[in-house]
Amino acid sequence: MISKAGIGSRTEARSWIHERRVKVNGKVIENPDHWVDMKRDHVWLDDKPLEQRDRLYLLLYKPTGYLTTYKDPEGRPTVYDLIEDFDTFLSPVGRLDLDTSGLLIMTNDTQFAERVTNPDSHVPKTYLVKASALLTDDQLEQLRRGIELSDGMTRAAIVKRLRNSGKHTHFEITISEGKNRQVRRMVEALGAHVMKLVRVRIGAIAIGELPIGEWRLLTRAEITSLRR
Ligand code: URA
Repeated sequence: MISKAGIGSRTEARSWIHERRVKVNGKVIENPDHWVDMKRDHVWLDDKPLEQRDRLYLLLYKPTGYLTTYKDPEGRPTVYDLIEDFDTFLSPVGRLDLDTSGLLIMTNDTQFAERVTNPDSHVPKTYLVKASALLTDDQLEQLRRGIELSDGMTRAAIVKRLRNSGKHTHFEITISEGKNRQVRRMVEALGAHVMKLVRVRIGAIAIGELPIGEWRLLTRAEITSLRR
């Protein structure tokens, strides 16, 4: 529950409660499963209200080979190895697969994260794709119109062929939802597979000149554009 407020992982939140650093409505809480309603209850950590903590938004250019999770039981690298140790817990806004590179927003603002990832918000996300085969116009049209996946039909997408090189089609696709491994599964439904996947835009935010593996803070205008 405290982790839902965006300031710590579940494990951290538990240890703060054990250390008696968390107060709800003026009383120290002892039960790590204590339920709070962030709209009604006043939650304090170290004598500072949670809602007064600074909001932080950053944009990371995730390379392939990094997991979008906090800790990996197998010890593989994660996106947290690429950012510095802020004194607040930043969660990834949505996920990118291990083999996908590109834009990943990380923030401690859970409402913002929920807004960007909720399919009802229709925030467009654009990917560059290299397919394992040459795709016909008709196949690209199928991607545009929607593909039947095991968890339902995909919404209309914007698809642009960029070029064909040898046996591969390179194209750009913009989707406004985020089903698990969506782009890969859409291409697999056409009988091909994705060889390279890079997310280059989220809403109005583009990858620009950010080098791979680096991060920068979002500008105020970028944050506002995604809140709308
Ligand atoms: N679609 C995918 O298949 N994978 C991603 O990482 C993002 C979108």
